[in-house]
Amino acid sequence: MSTSQERSVVLVTGASSGIGEACAELLSARGHTVYGTSRQARAGQPARYAMLELDVTQEDSVRRAVATVLEREGRVDGVVNNAGHALAGALEDTSVEEAWKQLDTNVLGVLRVCRAVLPGMRERRSGRIINIGSLGGVVGLPFQGFYSASKFALEGLTESLRQELEPFGIQAALVQPGDVRTRLTDNRVRAAGSGEGSAYHAAFETVLGIIEKEEREGVPPEDVARCVLSLMEAPSMPVRVSVGKLAQRAAVVAKTVLPAKTFEGVLMSMYGLKKRG
Ligand SMILES: NC(=O)c1ccc[n+]([C@@H]2O[C@H](COP(=O)([O-])OP(=O)(O)OC[C@H]3O[C@@H](n4cnc5c(N)ncnc54)[C@H](OP(=O)(O)O)[C@@H]3O)[C@@H](O)[C@H]2O)c1
Repeated sequence: MSTSQERSVVLVTGASSGIGEACAELLSARGHTVYGTSRQARAGQPARYAMLELDVTQEDSVRRAVATVLEREGRVDGVVNNAGHALAGALEDTSVEEAWKQLDTNVLGVLRVCRAVLPGMRERRSGRIINIGSLGGVVGLPFQGFYSASKFALEGLTESLRQELEPFGIQAALVQPGDVRTRLTDNRVRAAGSGEGSAYHAAFETVLGIIEKEEREGVPPEDVARCVLSLMEAPSMPVRVSVGKLAQRAAVVAKTVLPAKTFEGVLMSMYGLKKRG
């Protein structure tokens, strides 16, 4: 994808709803050849782009979907690593298995997709990888510890990837959305231990109520899609771009300028949590 005029072949993971669907719609409306993915093949394909079955937690499934695109198009020019879900719960209430599933999808899923598309991109000495991170990958969110951990991981992973891929003419970037109105809120998985028996139950419910309200009042997924499109078509991709409400994006700046404990206090009060002393 070297200029905005070229038709590129783009794979968008998790395109059955929300941000991924908006990206697939916009990229294809712009004339790019888009392959969206979902874990379930559904009857009735979108008119503008093809949908393939792909589960980012299954290596075979990822390889099959990428092989299909390569067979049909001969190349993959761009990837939007978007598939993901959110786990909520106090760290103490989160089992290793629950944490593993969160990281398996949100982090190792990106690894599996990258490993499947990069050989072809290296051969052609061109390609773009856009990883959908989160502002929750810059600021640790209470009761979303492993969701935040997964998105913090994407920050470091994308920085590393950029440097490794640079000699091959391949670019990588991270998009950090704030709250976006999607099915992520309804699809959120609650740690099994976060029920009424949890020592954190009351605080967890208060914080999650605030988080979910903010998500439902978040920006539309099309805002993120416009950001992804402009990255795909920019001559050179920046390391990261945040997208969302100004107040949420400002938190990233505030974290760098405020003393850490002051910033933490502001964050806690936003979520209705009290600091002792
Ligand atoms: N919504 C927000 O406020 C927000 C903010 C920051 C970042 N994000 C990030 O944006 C991305 C998209 O989320 P969304 O908000 O658009 O949520 P969404 O509407 O729930 O969409 C999630 C997508 O991911 C797919 N998916 C989930 N698990 C998968 C797996 N194991 N393999 C393949 N696909 C899988 C789902 O497809 P199927 O179920 O059809 O397989 C669906 O298409 C996520 O990475 C999320 O962390 C969202």
